[in-house]
Amino acid sequence: MKITIVSSSTRLNRISHRIALALKIEIEKTTHDVHIIDLKDLAIPTFEERYGHVSDPEGKLEKTFSLLDSSDGLIFLTPEYNGAISSGLKNFIDVFAKKPFEGKPIGVATGSTGALGGIRAAYQLQQTILSIFGYPIPQMLTVGHMDKVIDENGKVMEDTFQVRLEFFLKSYLTFAEKLIKPSPQKE
Ligand SMILES: Cc1cc2nc3c(=O)[nH]c(=O)nc-3n(C[C@H](O)[C@H](O)[C@H](O)COP(=O)(O)O)c2cc1C
Repeated sequence: MKITIVSSSTRLNRISHRIALALKIEIEKTTHDVHIIDLKDLAIPTFEERYGHVSDPEGKLEKTFSLLDSSDGLIFLTPEYNGAISSGLKNFIDVFAKKPFEGKPIGVATGSTGALGGIRAAYQLQQTILSIFGYPIPQMLTVGHMDKVIDENGKVMEDTFQVRLEFFLKSYLTFAEKLIKPSPQKE
């Protein structure tokens, strides 16, 4: 499977990108392919129109669309800002929805430096995924005290978090594989 993580903090000295790196390291231990779309690098402008409705989209948008479109599954990662998902992620979703997201398994990962790990943003994101006709994975990865549990390179610094990370990924892959590989038909 080709799995793409959308990392959505564009803040100076951001921390949540560490979760993207930790997920990437974990997925690389499997046979699956992993890519990161980093919204800080991508720097797409504030929403003006949907990708499919722009006659001459910028090259970086075309590249991003084809990566999304060719992905079997996605993981949306967001910090919680004022009880919600990052405006960058909402902007990104509005630009590309719905075609490259439809019918795909989409995992939710959120982070905060507080104890709750962005749970309010996580629930909102599940709703948004339904609105773009994606399939939200029931198990979410919420990372509290993310500055303490993962280092700048994505190395997990706490054993209990490593267990949660592995559980999330296992649940994600199980769900995604069921969705992508249908059961054999009756004779
Ligand atoms: C604009 C803003 C709003 C925030 N709102 C929340 C919040 O609602 N809940 C929370 O747990 N932390 C909140 N925080 C603290 C963030 O968890 C913390 O700054 C975190 O590092 C943000 O992720 P980032 O570093 O990847 O941007 C907020 C931070 C900022 C900058």
